[in-house]
Amino acid sequence: MARLDIHVLGSPILRQETERVTQITPELRRLVDDMFDTMDAASGVGLAAPQVGRRERLAVVDADDQRLVIINPEIVHHEGGLVRAEEGCLSIPEVYAEVDRHARVTVRAQDIDGTWFEIENAGDLLGRCLQHEIDHLHGKIFFDRLSLLKKRRAMREWEDEKRKYPQNVRVLPVGDLPPEKAADNKAGSKADAK
Ligand code: NI
Repeated sequence: MARLDIHVLGSPILRQETERVTQITPELRRLVDDMFDTMDAASGVGLAAPQVGRRERLAVVDADDQRLVIINPEIVHHEGGLVRAEEGCLSIPEVYAEVDRHARVTVRAQDIDGTWFEIENAGDLLGRCLQHEIDHLHGKIFFDRLSLLKKRRAMREWEDEKRKYPQNVRVLPVGDLPPEKAADNKAGSKADAK
């Protein structure tokens, strides 16, 4: 497995629509393995293909004891109104904001063998994470779900932070997993980055 560079906000691929996956190739399986590795190394709870510079419509998540790859995912049902909670993003390091999301979602997706499955009524961190990753697959980031005022504030914070990434990518250090990921591969706080 390999750690991939993470594209940060400013990299055009984060704003592009992805392409439906039509074939599960050995190369695609490798990409998924590398994405899990990258998400773990960055202590994230989710990572979508555009964040590693790829156009495939797929993401990996690790939240609420669920470690999943979702290929061609779609939200087929939502309920319970909107809930507000803090979010971050591996592509926008150090910037957090409260985002409204559906309380519960049912997601239909394909697994790594191409088999369709459903994650029913996912709420809490998993539900939020799935919505955040599916947004990434359509060129959306969590800033897009903020009020104009809050979006401006988040953008200002990011303008400062962005200077650390002149090439628009985050290169993860080679070496051991961060202790919280090495201890157990479970999701952390609600502010964990996706
Ligand atoms: Ni994200």
